[in-house]
Amino acid sequence: MSRPSPSRPRRSRRVLRVPSFAKVNLGLEVLGRRQDGYHELRTLFQTIDLADEVALRPRPAAEGVTVECDHPLVPRDGTNLAAQAAEALRRYARVEAGVHIAIRKRIPVGGGLGGGSSNAAAVLRGLDHLWRLGLGPSGLHLLARKLGADVPYFLVGGTALGLARGDEVYPLRRQVRSHVVLVDAGMPVSTAAVFRRLDGSLTPRENSNSIFYFVSRDLEGKRELRLLANDLERAALDEAPRLKEWAGRIRDVLVQEGAELAALTGSGSTYFGLFEGAQPARRARAALRAAGFAAIGARTLSLAQYRKAWSRSLVR
Ligand code: C5P
Repeated sequence: MSRPSPSRPRRSRRVLRVPSFAKVNLGLEVLGRRQDGYHELRTLFQTIDLADEVALRPRPAAEGVTVECDHPLVPRDGTNLAAQAAEALRRYARVEAGVHIAIRKRIPVGGGLGGGSSNAAAVLRGLDHLWRLGLGPSGLHLLARKLGADVPYFLVGGTALGLARGDEVYPLRRQVRSHVVLVDAGMPVSTAAVFRRLDGSLTPRENSNSIFYFVSRDLEGKRELRLLANDLERAALDEAPRLKEWAGRIRDVLVQEGAELAALTGSGSTYFGLFEGAQPARRARAALRAAGFAAIGARTLSLAQYRKAWSRSLVR
């Protein structure tokens, strides 16, 4: 990757607002442990239209990178992944400018919906535009990988296969289009803790093939969502015993109301259902709320819709 020459940022003081969408993992297979301490994964990512708002306000270079967020669990210092993304890009492209990042959270925190990673990718893309670096998603990929395993996916979006640490991302030709019901259990789960717990019981799953099968059937024009599973689910439920009590009921309601797929996303704690129609999705939401759960309605975002949302926000 060749470094861009030092850049003089856009003079404008205008705030740039960029979308920062959530993802779900339609399926997730853990194939084994890697030398670098991470795990070798095979996963199917899907962006949904639930999004945080990220506002980037140009600041003088002396003010550096600052961040604010309206959610109490999100750090407001240099440990915030969005701030780290801005610092990394500033150093890499030798930009003499500061930026203030304001994040309005809509995506549940610690829910397996990729909010922090999505915020970081949004900052990379937004600042690439604001600072006129011209790197684009491919030029930002290496920086994104260093920030976190899920960050590269958010440079792409849509329905995509994730390999290696989840940071090798390949969009699928046929994109999933569904209504989505998310159940926010309101109990953040640590991804690192779930992987650690899994290590105690991990038997190599090189032969696991449900995602392979899904992709093959997809190429034939068939949709086999029901085959998909999440290898992190058991460890996540052991990590969050209260979620374990609820998981069966949440899944039952989603399935009873006709979900094509009812699953845990990432390392949890959010469950989701995919529905072909708006009506069953509405019914599922109502049934879950009646049972005392916080249910959120959303739609999947295809690769084309994701790109469109980004180009709309960058031309403004
Ligand atoms: O890369 P990121 O910081 O998002 O990952 C959070 C944690 O999840 C890592 O520290 C690691 O413990 C675990 N992880 C893993 N294998 C992956 C992705 C994440 O072990 N492929």
